[in-house]
Amino acid sequence: MSFRPGPQHRRIVVLSGAGLSARTGLGTFRGPDGLWSLDPQLEEAMHASALPGSIPALWRVWGDMARVAAAHGPTPGHFAIARMGAQVITQNVDGLHQAAGSEDVAELHGSARRAVCLDPRCPWSAPLVPGEGDRAEDHGAPSACPVCGAPTRPDVVLFDEQLPAAAIDRALALTRAADLFVVVGSSGVVMPAAQLAPRARAAGATTVLVDIDPPREASRGGSFDHVLRGDAHEVLPDWERARRDVAANP
Ligand code: APR
Repeated sequence: MSFRPGPQHRRIVVLSGAGLSARTGLGTFRGPDGLWSLDPQLEEAMHASALPGSIPALWRVWGDMARVAAAHGPTPGHFAIARMGAQVITQNVDGLHQAAGSEDVAELHGSARRAVCLDPRCPWSAPLVPGEGDRAEDHGAPSACPVCGAPTRPDVVLFDEQLPAAAIDRALALTRAADLFVVVGSSGVVMPAAQLAPRARAAGATTVLVDIDPPREASRGGSFDHVLRGDAHEVLPDWERARRDVAANP
């Protein structure tokens, strides 16, 4: 294993992408069998400009993602991240980090496990009940907001929408304080997540990319001290076992 966290890496921060959850059946977004690669029209529907006509597509895509994630549960990579006590910044909306026991999770792109009102000024929000279909009711949510009557939608950030300010603030604070900043299962093409590794490195962290097929630009230097070509569900459990062994035999 070309890299493993050392005792000097006390504060581990993980930035996760779709690759960490892909094996649950959720797949990824880019690459040969990515959701957007297979259905570019669907990616179009994920832009804020497609609202409100895109609401059925949002329920179908993100509601289904919540259902598949809940049915499968966390992966070995999610559990290893939780057991290492890593703090998490995630682009994923599947809730699997929390399900694996991670408590400090900044959800940059929102959550497919929650419904919100279409009107961003309205505070209504409620947990979803994972189901199948393109209507709010298929996922345990009312189609009209109980507070203001506007339509409801999954609480997932769309392209060209603002990210949740609290999640961004938390992500930046974690990035500044990290000893080890690990990007796992993300192609690194979406901002602002893609800016976090260089920021962590500038703040003094060791930066590592773990990817089953690392993007070429990542391998050409840039933001990472180490680029590991590997499966998150092998690399992260190995790290967790090694840290446990060191802790047990100081
Ligand atoms: N272990 C490690 N890496 C993996 C694994 C695995 N088992 N499986 C896939 N990967 C890698 C792929 O090689 C790819 O680099 O995960 C990455 C997934 O990249 P994307 O599909 O682009 O997903 P992500 O980076 O999370 O996308 C960011 O784009 O569309 C938006 O909101 C969406 O949050 C998403 C954002």
